[in-house]
Amino acid sequence: MLLEAQGIVKLFGGFRAVDGADLSLNRGEIVGLIGPNGAGKSTFFNCLAGDLRPNAGRIVFDGHDLTLATPEAHARRGLARTWQVPVVFAEMAVRDNVMVGAFLRHPQARAARRKADEVLEFTGLAAQADAPAGSLGTLGRKRLEIARALATEPSLLLLDEALAGLNATETQVAIDLVRGIHARGVTLIIVEHVMSVILSLAQRAVVFNQGHVIAAGAPQAVIEDEAVIEAYLGKRFRRPVP
Ligand SMILES: Nc1ncnc2c1ncn2[C@@H]1O[C@H](COP(=O)(O)OP(=O)(O)OP(=O)(O)O)[C@@H](O)[C@H]1O
Ligand SMILES: [Mg+2]
Repeated sequence: MLLEAQGIVKLFGGFRAVDGADLSLNRGEIVGLIGPNGAGKSTFFNCLAGDLRPNAGRIVFDGHDLTLATPEAHARRGLARTWQVPVVFAEMAVRDNVMVGAFLRHPQARAARRKADEVLEFTGLAAQADAPAGSLGTLGRKRLEIARALATEPSLLLLDEALAGLNATETQVAIDLVRGIHARGVTLIIVEHVMSVILSLAQRAVVFNQGHVIAAGAPQAVIEDEAVIEAYLGKRFRRPVP
């Protein structure tokens, strides 16, 4: 078991944004996390990555209890994440943005730069390495978010709508990139609203609603689940009655 999150609760005032969420993950999986707006998916990610401290529950990652650990401690153990709204240092060069991640394991600038260049090559950003990050388009910014996370050399990568806002061609490029990351041995949890992305990438789908898991299983079976259709997908996903 690479990740075991049990009974995670996150309160904002009296509001239970995450309300008893459980998720276990084996090494090598790609899990798709889906659910309606406001279901608590990003808040749950924030808890898993140490960006928010849960009010209750337990997070064990790679044998270590990280429930109350800092984001840096999570990253050091090998857990990286992207943000739903890309966090890009717009005036800094693309390479320097990626070096921010690379410094975690390569404190010396030369080694961090080498790591950043390797990741830029892999993510298809090598040609823009010297350009300011603010000059990148949507796909480029998504790539950059992923590149910075990869530069920390994670064993688990949390992608929060990393493919949202892309057109059909760009989506295919991004899907191939995620497959390439997985092929390098990285375990992934992906939050996505586009079901075709979940169906083509995820081996298992987990459905969040009102802060906890309401269904989990093979993606195709999950999207045909009545409770999931009711809570999230709506009638258009219902099978035609023969
Ligand atoms: N910092 C915060 N303070 C107060 N409420 C918050 C905060 N962050 C999130 N919330 C609320 O918690 C709930 C869950 O939000 P969250 O962003 O985790 O949902 P989500 O499943 O990621 O939704 P989406 O699919 O729209 O990204 C929402 O009602 C949101 O308004
Ligand atoms: Mg979200």
